[in-house]
Amino acid sequence: MTSAEIRSRFLAFFEKRGHAIIPSASLVTSDEKGVTNPTLFNTAGMQPLIPYLLGQPYIGADGKALTRLVDSQKCLRTVDIDDVGDKTHNTFFQMLGNWSLGDYFKKEAIEWSFEFLTSKEEGLGLDPKRLYVTVFEGDENAPRDDEAANIWKAVFARHGIDAGGDTSNGEAGRIFYLPAENNWWEAGENGPCGPDSEMFYDVADRFKGAIVSHAEYVDADDKRDVIEIWNDVFMQYEKKDGKIVGPLPKPSVDTGAGLERLTMTLQGVDNIYDTDLFKPLMSLMAAAPNDVRNKRIVADHLRASVFLVADGVVPSNTDRGYVLRRLIRRAVMNTTDKKLDEARVGKLVDAVVDAYKGSYPYLAEKSEEIKKVLNEECARFEIALAEGTHEYNKLVLHNNHVLTGEIAFKLYSSYGLPLEFIKEISRFTKPLEYEKDFEANFHGLVKNHQSLSRAGAEQKFKGGLADADDPMVVRYHTATHLLHQALHDVLGEGTGDQKGSNITAERLRFDFTGQKLTDDQKKRVEGIVNEKIAEALPVGRVVLPRAEAEKTGARHFFGERYGDEVSVYYIGDSLESAYSKEFCGGPHVANTRELSGPEGKWRFHIQKEEASSQGVRRIKAVLR
Ligand code: ALA
Repeated sequence: MTSAEIRSRFLAFFEKRGHAIIPSASLVTSDEKGVTNPTLFNTAGMQPLIPYLLGQPYIGADGKALTRLVDSQKCLRTVDIDDVGDKTHNTFFQMLGNWSLGDYFKKEAIEWSFEFLTSKEEGLGLDPKRLYVTVFEGDENAPRDDEAANIWKAVFARHGIDAGGDTSNGEAGRIFYLPAENNWWEAGENGPCGPDSEMFYDVADRFKGAIVSHAEYVDADDKRDVIEIWNDVFMQYEKKDGKIVGPLPKPSVDTGAGLERLTMTLQGVDNIYDTDLFKPLMSLMAAAPNDVRNKRIVADHLRASVFLVADGVVPSNTDRGYVLRRLIRRAVMNTTDKKLDEARVGKLVDAVVDAYKGSYPYLAEKSEEIKKVLNEECARFEIALAEGTHEYNKLVLHNNHVLTGEIAFKLYSSYGLPLEFIKEISRFTKPLEYEKDFEANFHGLVKNHQSLSRAGAEQKFKGGLADADDPMVVRYHTATHLLHQALHDVLGEGTGDQKGSNITAERLRFDFTGQKLTDDQKKRVEGIVNEKIAEALPVGRVVLPRAEAEKTGARHFFGERYGDEVSVYYIGDSLESAYSKEFCGGPHVANTRELSGPEGKWRFHIQKEEASSQGVRRIKAVLR
């Protein structure tokens, strides 16, 4: 089945069930700050529909309110940019979704999901025995979702499939209960939210259709033998500033199925780049003697850039324009000869436009404009790269072939060469040594740079969020790592595990497992954090294959999806001797001394320690 057919079957399936097909909104979010605009780009299908999930009527062309919608929404996520090029990560993707705006709820949503996935006539014809699903296990916000589990059980039973017993009691089954990290959906601190139910397909046919234990399911998920193909969110509550403030006016449904992943599953390939969505682009690069990962990065970034330019984004040094600039420049850096000339840009853009104009006819009209924008940026980058490389050679040569953080910073601030490009250039210039703590020194200089505009854009690029560039937020981020480790020092292992974290420029908030802290324990935790700040420990980062990263003993979180390569931040002189190690995307300060403020006078204070939910405590702390 082609990706176009999957998409059109999805739309037709729900149209037949009373849903109005609506066009995809722009990739670019509205500029209204607040609830409807938590990010620079739409990162999920529900984002453009937030106001309607919150109760505003969705008025159709005939002036009547519509309560059932279906669409395929363009999305862009840059948080996983470092993982692009592995089997499943991309930046631009399309999310298929059906919506109930206060109309149907769990029963119809689940039944239709099952039917669409398995029906040969109207749906995808997947083998129902290879489906495994997860539901919310319950917490202080909402009860365990037995309602969804029972609906799934009934659906499976109707099709003669044994859904097994209660997997939370160790029995084998095909319905698994997971915590909020996995089975709770929200688009940020504010807006509609609720428990969800995710559908997984056993792409490896590992279980041969059998029911399995919770542990077996988790292991299969870890190894990507089962792949998440769809998510039904039961929108029921509204959050403000991270706290549930009440039920939504009417329960609603938000579902999301990544077209790229679904296509990969249906086409029986083990990565998205071998699907028909990427094949035309990948085959244009087939002849180049380049690593497959680099080719995939070029394909992904070019595809994303085409859609961004078509939605009106132009390369610049701030916000959305910076994201586009980085994507184009990264694409160039991943080509064999570090160059995309007009002829190649023309071919690549045509390949994207051809592959997508069926679903997005406007692309064809805009293709000349897209080529022009991309060509101009490639030309600009070519000059910057030539100048930067020249300067790089001069500076490094004059420094006995040692690349320092300071040199990298100079190239970054004067020529706009991001660190990853500098490292790329350095691969081709031998002999070369790196100064000790090269990256940490570089980041330290970036942070201290008076003009934070570029660094700010950098953080937004990574996180897609508004205030990650604030130096205070960065300090609190590092303080959170220190606090996490200090809690373990004081409470021991098996407690003090992170359950949540939220940082603003004013404070950090950290949720962890455990009982109420005694005054003495609180004092000891504060004391340790302050000691580590006073020790002026460097903060370093390494990127490692996931299995190796796990071996370092770095803290990470059950249930969180990590890519094939993960970034580990460590606080201390070396990874081995570090006081704290965590899987983390950053950003962090370069040295813990920065936590003591510009004059070295601030201390870490726990302001509040309170219950967050059963068995979970919440700390609020400040640097002051
Ligand atoms: N909003 C849900 C998601 O993106 C469907 O997974």
